[in-house]
Amino acid sequence: MKLISGNSNRKLSENIAARLANPLAEAEIRTFKDGEVFVEIKENVRGEDVFVIQSTSNPANDNLMELLITIDALTRASASRITAVIPYFGYARQDRKAGPRTPISAKLVANLITTAGADRVLTVDLHAGQIQGFFDIPTDNLFAVNVFAEKIRAMHKGDIDDVTVVSPDTGGVVRARSLSKRLGNRPLAIVDKRREQAGVSEVMHIIGDVKDRHCILFDDIVDSGGTLCNAAQAIMEKGAKSVSAYVTHGVLSDGAHERIAKAKALTRIVTSDSILSTPEVEACKKIEKVEIGGLLAEAIRRIANEESVSSLFD
Ligand code: R5P
Repeated sequence: MKLISGNSNRKLSENIAARLANPLAEAEIRTFKDGEVFVEIKENVRGEDVFVIQSTSNPANDNLMELLITIDALTRASASRITAVIPYFGYARQDRKAGPRTPISAKLVANLITTAGADRVLTVDLHAGQIQGFFDIPTDNLFAVNVFAEKIRAMHKGDIDDVTVVSPDTGGVVRARSLSKRLGNRPLAIVDKRREQAGVSEVMHIIGDVKDRHCILFDDIVDSGGTLCNAAQAIMEKGAKSVSAYVTHGVLSDGAHERIAKAKALTRIVTSDSILSTPEVEACKKIEKVEIGGLLAEAIRRIANEESVSSLFD
Protein backbone atom coordinates (compact mmCIF):
# COMPACT_ATOMS: atom_id res chain seq x y z
CA MET A 1 0.00 0.00 0.00
CA LYS A 2 1.19 3.54 -0.77
CA LEU A 3 -0.18 6.72 0.78
CA ILE A 4 0.24 9.99 -1.07
CA SER A 5 -0.73 13.38 0.32
CA GLY A 6 -1.89 16.43 -1.58
CA ASN A 7 -1.15 19.85 -0.09
CA SER A 8 -4.63 20.66 1.27
CA ASN A 9 -4.22 19.01 4.68
CA ARG A 10 -0.84 17.38 5.15
CA LYS A 11 -1.32 17.29 8.92
CA LEU A 12 -4.28 14.92 8.56
CA SER A 13 -2.38 12.80 5.98
CA GLU A 14 0.56 12.48 8.38
CA ASN A 15 -1.80 11.46 11.19
CA ILE A 16 -3.32 8.75 8.95
CA ALA A 17 0.15 7.58 7.83
CA ALA A 18 1.36 7.36 11.44
CA ARG A 19 -1.67 5.31 12.48
CA LEU A 20 -1.08 2.92 9.58
CA ALA A 21 2.68 2.83 10.31
CA ASN A 22 3.13 3.51 6.60
CA PRO A 23 5.01 6.75 5.85
CA LEU A 24 3.69 9.03 3.12
CA ALA A 25 5.25 8.23 -0.24
CA GLU A 26 7.60 10.84 -1.59
CA ALA A 27 5.88 13.05 -4.12
CA GLU A 28 6.39 16.57 -5.37
CA ILE A 29 3.17 18.49 -5.87
CA ARG A 30 3.81 22.11 -6.66
CA THR A 31 2.48 25.05 -8.62
CA PHE A 32 4.24 26.81 -11.48
CA LYS A 33 4.36 30.61 -11.47
CA ASP A 34 1.39 30.73 -13.87
CA GLY A 35 -0.71 28.64 -11.44
CA GLU A 36 -0.46 25.29 -13.25
CA VAL A 37 -0.04 22.26 -10.99
CA PHE A 38 2.91 19.90 -11.44
CA VAL A 39 3.16 16.45 -9.85
CA GLU A 40 6.04 14.02 -9.72
CA ILE A 41 5.74 10.76 -7.76
CA LYS A 42 9.25 10.06 -6.55
CA GLU A 43 8.79 6.35 -5.79
CA ASN A 44 7.88 3.33 -7.87
CA VAL A 45 4.12 2.69 -7.63
CA ARG A 46 3.82 0.02 -10.35
CA GLY A 47 1.28 -2.57 -9.18
CA GLU A 48 0.66 -0.74 -5.88
CA ASP A 49 -2.64 -0.11 -4.04
CA VAL A 50 -2.42 3.69 -3.78
CA PHE A 51 -4.45 6.06 -1.58
CA VAL A 52 -4.30 9.76 -2.49
CA ILE A 53 -5.39 11.92 0.45
CA GLN A 54 -6.71 15.34 -0.48
CA SER A 55 -9.63 17.46 0.77
CA THR A 56 -11.05 19.68 -1.96
CA SER A 57 -11.37 22.57 0.47
CA ASN A 58 -10.43 26.22 -0.04
CA PRO A 59 -8.75 26.92 -2.49
CA ALA A 60 -11.20 24.37 -3.88
CA ASN A 61 -10.17 24.56 -7.53
CA ASP A 62 -6.41 24.33 -6.86
CA ASN A 63 -6.89 21.42 -4.47
CA LEU A 64 -9.18 19.65 -6.92
CA MET A 65 -6.65 20.07 -9.74
CA GLU A 66 -3.90 18.69 -7.47
CA LEU A 67 -6.04 15.64 -6.81
CA LEU A 68 -6.88 15.09 -10.49
CA ILE A 69 -3.30 15.54 -11.69
CA THR A 70 -1.92 13.25 -8.96
CA ILE A 71 -4.41 10.55 -9.97
CA ASP A 72 -3.38 11.01 -13.61
CA ALA A 73 0.31 10.65 -12.69
CA LEU A 74 -0.45 7.45 -10.74
CA THR A 75 -2.48 5.98 -13.60
CA ARG A 76 0.38 6.60 -16.01
CA ALA A 77 2.81 5.10 -13.47
CA SER A 78 0.81 1.82 -13.54
CA ALA A 79 -0.57 1.84 -9.97
CA SER A 80 -2.86 -1.19 -9.73
CA ARG A 81 -5.64 0.57 -7.81
CA ILE A 82 -6.10 4.24 -6.95
CA THR A 83 -8.41 5.35 -4.13
CA ALA A 84 -9.18 9.06 -3.90
CA VAL A 85 -9.42 9.73 -0.15
CA ILE A 86 -11.36 13.00 0.03
CA PRO A 87 -12.06 13.76 3.72
CA TYR A 88 -13.96 16.91 2.68
CA PHE A 89 -15.62 16.66 -0.73
CA GLY A 90 -16.04 20.24 -1.97
CA TYR A 91 -18.72 21.28 -4.49
CA ALA A 92 -21.07 18.84 -2.71
CA ARG A 93 -23.66 21.53 -2.04
CA GLN A 94 -24.15 21.97 -5.79
CA ASP A 95 -25.81 18.58 -6.00
CA ARG A 96 -28.97 19.51 -7.94
CA LYS A 97 -30.22 22.13 -10.34
CA ALA A 98 -31.02 24.81 -7.76
CA GLY A 99 -32.57 27.02 -10.44
CA PRO A 100 -32.91 27.30 -14.19
CA ARG A 101 -29.63 27.34 -16.16
CA THR A 102 -27.47 26.30 -13.16
CA PRO A 103 -24.99 23.40 -13.10
CA ILE A 104 -24.83 20.23 -11.01
CA SER A 105 -21.19 20.78 -10.13
CA ALA A 106 -20.96 17.83 -7.70
CA LYS A 107 -21.71 15.50 -10.62
CA LEU A 108 -19.13 17.23 -12.82
CA VAL A 109 -16.49 16.86 -10.09
CA ALA A 110 -17.38 13.17 -9.69
CA ASN A 111 -16.95 12.71 -13.45
CA LEU A 112 -13.58 14.48 -13.38
CA ILE A 113 -12.27 12.27 -10.56
CA THR A 114 -13.41 9.12 -12.34
CA THR A 115 -12.05 10.22 -15.72
CA ALA A 116 -8.68 11.09 -14.16
CA GLY A 117 -8.38 7.40 -13.24
CA ALA A 118 -9.62 6.88 -9.66
CA ASP A 119 -10.88 3.35 -8.99
CA ARG A 120 -12.56 4.12 -5.66
CA VAL A 121 -13.52 7.07 -3.50
CA LEU A 122 -13.38 7.29 0.28
CA THR A 123 -14.97 10.32 1.90
CA VAL A 124 -16.57 11.49 5.15
CA ASP A 125 -20.10 12.80 5.74
CA LEU A 126 -21.03 13.69 2.17
CA HIS A 127 -23.41 16.63 2.15
CA ALA A 128 -26.03 14.30 0.64
CA GLY A 129 -25.65 10.52 0.59
CA GLN A 130 -27.06 10.42 -2.95
CA ILE A 131 -23.83 12.01 -4.25
CA GLN A 132 -22.39 8.49 -4.07
CA GLY A 133 -24.58 7.79 -7.09
CA PHE A 134 -22.74 10.50 -9.07
CA PHE A 135 -19.74 8.14 -9.14
CA ASP A 136 -19.73 5.00 -11.28
CA ILE A 137 -16.94 3.60 -9.11
CA PRO A 138 -17.25 2.25 -5.53
CA THR A 139 -17.67 5.04 -2.99
CA ASP A 140 -17.37 4.66 0.77
CA ASN A 141 -18.99 7.46 2.74
CA LEU A 142 -17.79 7.35 6.36
CA PHE A 143 -19.66 8.95 9.25
CA ALA A 144 -17.91 11.00 11.92
CA VAL A 145 -20.89 10.57 14.26
CA ASN A 146 -19.15 8.12 16.63
CA VAL A 147 -16.20 10.48 17.05
CA PHE A 148 -18.61 13.30 17.94
CA ALA A 149 -20.71 11.14 20.27
CA GLU A 150 -17.56 10.30 22.22
CA LYS A 151 -16.56 13.96 22.42
CA ILE A 152 -20.05 14.99 23.58
CA ARG A 153 -20.03 12.38 26.35
CA ALA A 154 -16.61 13.68 27.43
CA MET A 155 -17.73 17.34 27.33
CA HIS A 156 -20.82 16.54 29.46
CA LYS A 157 -18.82 14.25 31.75
CA GLY A 158 -21.17 11.40 30.85
CA ASP A 159 -24.25 13.27 32.16
CA ILE A 160 -26.31 13.64 29.00
CA ASP A 161 -29.84 13.20 30.40
CA ASP A 162 -30.81 16.79 29.65
CA VAL A 163 -29.26 16.86 26.17
CA THR A 164 -31.41 17.38 23.06
CA VAL A 165 -29.96 16.90 19.59
CA VAL A 166 -31.05 19.56 17.12
CA SER A 167 -30.92 19.39 13.35
CA PRO A 168 -30.22 22.90 12.01
CA ASP A 169 -32.43 22.24 8.97
CA THR A 170 -34.90 19.67 7.70
CA GLY A 171 -32.25 18.17 5.38
CA GLY A 172 -30.10 17.16 8.37
CA VAL A 173 -32.72 15.19 10.34
CA VAL A 174 -31.34 11.74 9.47
CA ARG A 175 -27.86 12.83 10.54
CA ALA A 176 -29.18 14.30 13.82
CA ARG A 177 -31.20 11.17 14.50
CA SER A 178 -28.10 9.01 14.14
CA LEU A 179 -26.32 11.14 16.77
CA SER A 180 -29.34 11.01 19.07
CA LYS A 181 -29.32 7.20 18.74
CA ARG A 182 -25.63 7.00 19.62
CA LEU A 183 -26.29 9.14 22.69
CA GLY A 184 -28.89 6.67 23.96
CA ASN A 185 -31.89 8.05 22.04
CA ARG A 186 -31.78 11.63 23.27
CA PRO A 187 -34.79 13.77 22.20
CA LEU A 188 -34.65 15.43 18.80
CA ALA A 189 -35.61 18.95 17.67
CA ILE A 190 -35.51 20.50 14.21
CA VAL A 191 -34.88 24.06 13.07
CA ASP A 192 -37.09 25.02 10.16
CA LYS A 193 -34.47 27.08 8.29
CA ARG A 194 -35.31 28.87 5.07
CA ARG A 195 -32.78 30.36 2.69
CA GLU A 196 -34.13 33.28 0.70
CA GLN A 197 -30.70 33.95 -0.77
CA ALA A 198 -27.66 31.65 -1.25
CA GLY A 199 -25.25 32.03 1.69
CA VAL A 200 -27.78 33.84 3.93
CA SER A 201 -29.89 31.76 6.33
CA GLU A 202 -32.94 32.77 8.30
CA VAL A 203 -34.51 30.72 11.08
CA MET A 204 -38.26 30.31 10.93
CA HIS A 205 -39.46 27.84 13.61
CA ILE A 206 -38.16 25.32 16.13
CA ILE A 207 -39.95 21.98 15.97
CA GLY A 208 -39.65 20.07 19.25
CA ASP A 209 -39.01 20.94 22.88
CA VAL A 210 -35.76 22.74 23.73
CA LYS A 211 -36.78 24.48 26.98
CA ASP A 212 -34.35 23.78 29.86
CA ARG A 213 -32.29 21.49 27.64
CA HIS A 214 -28.62 21.50 26.69
CA CYS A 215 -29.03 21.61 22.91
CA ILE A 216 -26.54 20.13 20.48
CA LEU A 217 -26.72 21.29 16.89
CA PHE A 218 -25.32 18.65 14.54
CA ASP A 219 -24.46 19.55 10.93
CA ASP A 220 -22.18 18.45 8.09
CA ILE A 221 -20.77 21.87 7.14
CA VAL A 222 -20.17 25.18 8.89
CA ASP A 223 -19.29 27.77 6.28
CA SER A 224 -20.26 31.37 7.09
CA GLY A 225 -21.51 30.21 10.51
CA GLY A 226 -24.86 31.92 9.82
CA THR A 227 -26.94 28.76 10.08
CA LEU A 228 -25.53 27.80 13.49
CA CYS A 229 -25.49 31.32 14.99
CA ASN A 230 -29.09 31.99 13.93
CA ALA A 231 -30.25 28.58 15.09
CA ALA A 232 -28.50 29.00 18.47
CA GLN A 233 -30.16 32.39 18.97
CA ALA A 234 -33.62 31.00 18.16
CA ILE A 235 -33.11 27.98 20.44
CA MET A 236 -31.96 30.14 23.38
CA GLU A 237 -35.03 32.38 22.86
CA LYS A 238 -37.14 29.26 23.38
CA GLY A 239 -35.59 28.79 26.84
CA ALA A 240 -32.72 26.33 26.26
CA LYS A 241 -30.00 26.07 28.93
CA SER A 242 -27.16 26.12 26.39
CA VAL A 243 -26.41 25.52 22.70
CA SER A 244 -23.24 23.99 21.31
CA ALA A 245 -22.56 22.72 17.79
CA TYR A 246 -20.77 19.69 16.38
CA VAL A 247 -20.00 19.85 12.68
CA THR A 248 -17.98 17.50 10.48
CA HIS A 249 -16.48 19.98 8.03
CA GLY A 250 -15.19 23.34 9.28
CA VAL A 251 -15.19 25.28 6.00
CA LEU A 252 -15.29 28.49 8.06
CA SER A 253 -14.95 30.95 5.20
CA ASP A 254 -13.77 34.53 5.71
CA GLY A 255 -15.12 36.12 8.87
CA ALA A 256 -16.93 33.01 10.14
CA HIS A 257 -14.70 32.74 13.20
CA GLU A 258 -15.52 36.35 14.15
CA ARG A 259 -19.25 35.74 13.73
CA ILE A 260 -18.97 32.64 15.92
CA ALA A 261 -16.85 34.40 18.55
CA LYS A 262 -19.50 37.15 18.80
CA ALA A 263 -22.52 34.81 18.93
CA LYS A 264 -23.48 34.87 22.62
CA ALA A 265 -26.06 32.11 22.19
CA LEU A 266 -23.49 29.61 20.97
CA THR A 267 -21.17 28.13 23.61
CA ARG A 268 -18.78 26.32 21.27
CA ILE A 269 -18.35 24.67 17.89
CA VAL A 270 -16.50 21.39 17.56
CA THR A 271 -15.43 20.43 14.04
CA SER A 272 -13.39 17.54 12.70
CA ASP A 273 -9.96 18.07 11.16
CA SER A 274 -11.14 17.14 7.63
CA ILE A 275 -10.12 20.69 6.63
CA LEU A 276 -6.92 22.37 7.80
CA SER A 277 -7.79 25.46 9.85
CA THR A 278 -6.49 28.91 9.02
CA PRO A 279 -4.41 30.54 11.82
CA GLU A 280 -7.40 32.82 12.61
CA VAL A 281 -9.72 29.84 13.10
CA GLU A 282 -7.01 28.06 15.09
CA ALA A 283 -6.83 31.09 17.42
CA CYS A 284 -10.60 31.22 18.00
CA LYS A 285 -11.21 29.81 21.50
CA LYS A 286 -14.81 28.89 20.71
CA ILE A 287 -13.81 26.50 17.92
CA GLU A 288 -12.43 23.09 18.89
CA LYS A 289 -11.28 20.11 16.85
CA VAL A 290 -11.68 16.34 17.01
CA GLU A 291 -9.50 14.03 14.95
CA ILE A 292 -10.86 11.76 12.22
CA GLY A 293 -7.42 10.37 11.28
CA GLY A 294 -8.20 7.16 13.19
CA LEU A 295 -11.48 6.66 11.33
CA LEU A 296 -9.87 7.24 7.92
CA ALA A 297 -6.85 5.07 8.71
CA GLU A 298 -9.07 2.16 9.76
CA ALA A 299 -11.19 2.51 6.60
CA ILE A 300 -8.05 2.58 4.43
CA ARG A 301 -6.72 -0.51 6.21
CA ARG A 302 -9.99 -2.32 5.61
CA ILE A 303 -10.15 -1.33 1.93
CA ALA A 304 -6.56 -2.49 1.41
CA ASN A 305 -7.36 -5.82 3.14
CA GLU A 306 -10.73 -6.21 1.34
CA GLU A 307 -12.59 -6.12 4.68
CA SER A 308 -16.00 -4.61 5.39
CA VAL A 309 -16.06 -0.83 5.83
CA SER A 310 -19.75 -0.53 6.71
CA SER A 311 -19.27 -2.72 9.78
CA LEU A 312 -17.26 0.16 11.26
CA PHE A 313 -20.66 1.73 12.03
CA ASP A 314 -22.57 -1.33 13.32
C1 R5P B 1 -26.64 23.19 4.36
O1 R5P B 1 -27.52 22.45 3.91
C2 R5P B 1 -25.48 22.64 5.14
O2 R5P B 1 -25.80 21.43 5.77
C3 R5P B 1 -24.98 23.66 6.16
O3 R5P B 1 -26.03 23.89 7.08
C4 R5P B 1 -24.60 24.95 5.50
O4 R5P B 1 -23.72 24.72 4.42
C5 R5P B 1 -23.94 25.88 6.51
O5 R5P B 1 -23.64 27.08 5.87
P1 R5P B 1 -23.44 28.43 6.70
O6 R5P B 1 -22.48 28.12 7.82
O7 R5P B 1 -22.85 29.38 5.67
O8 R5P B 1 -24.76 28.90 7.17
